[in-house]
Amino acid sequence: MSQMMRAIQMDAFGGPDVMEMREVPVPEPGPGQARIHVAYVGMNPFDAMARSGKIDFMPITFPFTPGLEHTGIVDAVGEGVDDTLVGKRVISRSSFGAYADYSIAHNVSLLLMLDDRIDLKTGCVYRGCSFTAWHALYEACRLKPGETCLLHSAAGPIGIMGAQIAKSDGCAVIGLAGGPDKVSFAKGYAADHVFDYNADVWVEDVMAATNGRGVDVIVDGNGGPNAAHNIDLLAPKGRVVYIGATAGPMPDPVAIPTLIFKNISVVGMNLAPIEDAPGSNTDRTIIENVATGVWRVPITEEVALEDVADLHRRLESRQVRGRAVIRVGGDP
Ligand SMILES: NC(=O)c1ccc[n+]([C@@H]2O[C@H](COP(=O)([O-])OP(=O)(O)OC[C@H]3O[C@@H](n4cnc5c(N)ncnc54)[C@H](OP(=O)(O)O)[C@@H]3O)[C@@H](O)[C@H]2O)c1
Repeated sequence: MSQMMRAIQMDAFGGPDVMEMREVPVPEPGPGQARIHVAYVGMNPFDAMARSGKIDFMPITFPFTPGLEHTGIVDAVGEGVDDTLVGKRVISRSSFGAYADYSIAHNVSLLLMLDDRIDLKTGCVYRGCSFTAWHALYEACRLKPGETCLLHSAAGPIGIMGAQIAKSDGCAVIGLAGGPDKVSFAKGYAADHVFDYNADVWVEDVMAATNGRGVDVIVDGNGGPNAAHNIDLLAPKGRVVYIGATAGPMPDPVAIPTLIFKNISVVGMNLAPIEDAPGSNTDRTIIENVATGVWRVPITEEVALEDVADLHRRLESRQVRGRAVIRVGGDP
């Protein structure tokens, strides 16, 4: 008889209630795969998007178990995989299925070894948000020391890590967040100013904070109605990068004459194809700053696997600050 485990499963796309806790057989790793005893899962918006049928760049078959960005310990490997991987603490970010006691990494070459100094809970959060923020600032926007950046959703994990990265480089940082609670949360990290973009005057506040000059760099993962102001907020030679549109539709295209006469650039970024490799300068810098606590990873709450539907509901009603984590097996 096969060994059984807990797994959140769903048989159709829908709201948080489509997710059910079930007892299912522990999966066996196939050729080139590894099985992970799951410790923690970061509450990444991709899981909520996958649940509701909004992901078209990864295959989803039913019954489906969400859970993308997670950590755990490899406990078995499939044919063709070096068995010294067993027992290693890993970050898995490329295969869903971590809302369960055991997940399968479909391609072991995409597994990341977790630095000895970083705990499993931090490990399921720090990498995606800091890499996204780093590449948006440096690769997409060519941020230079001393420039001014504006970060939308400054109380989210990418905003919090982006603010700390830019401040470490001597930049001035302005954040935007929805509501006083998120404003005060974001202020607890690195931003010089955080404005509430539910208030009518936030555009004027940003301009006043830059003495009317505007900002050099904008990172926007929100889209929606506020994105329309980005162009007016850019200083000459300014750059805005779009990384997503959580708050509504993607922004309208910007007319080429506007780009020419304002001397500005509009860019997009998709991290996965351009992500710096493990062991790169970027990787080592981020690990060092996280492991030594110079950059604080904004983990705000730990939720049991049974309570994941409620967490999805709160995420989708914008009640989560920073990153929540789901405890599956927790620390060994
Ligand atoms: N391009 C890439 O490579 C890449 C990689 C990773 C993530 N992303 C994107 O980056 C963005 C931020 O990611 P994240 O992980 O930081 O996201 P997150 O934790 O889910 O949310 C960040 C912020 O989005 C705001 N928000 C706006 N509308 C929302 C809605 N309808 N539901 C929930 N939150 C909403 C919330 O802040 P306020 O309430 O303060 O507005 C929230 O704090 C997303 O669009 C994500 O898809 C892009």
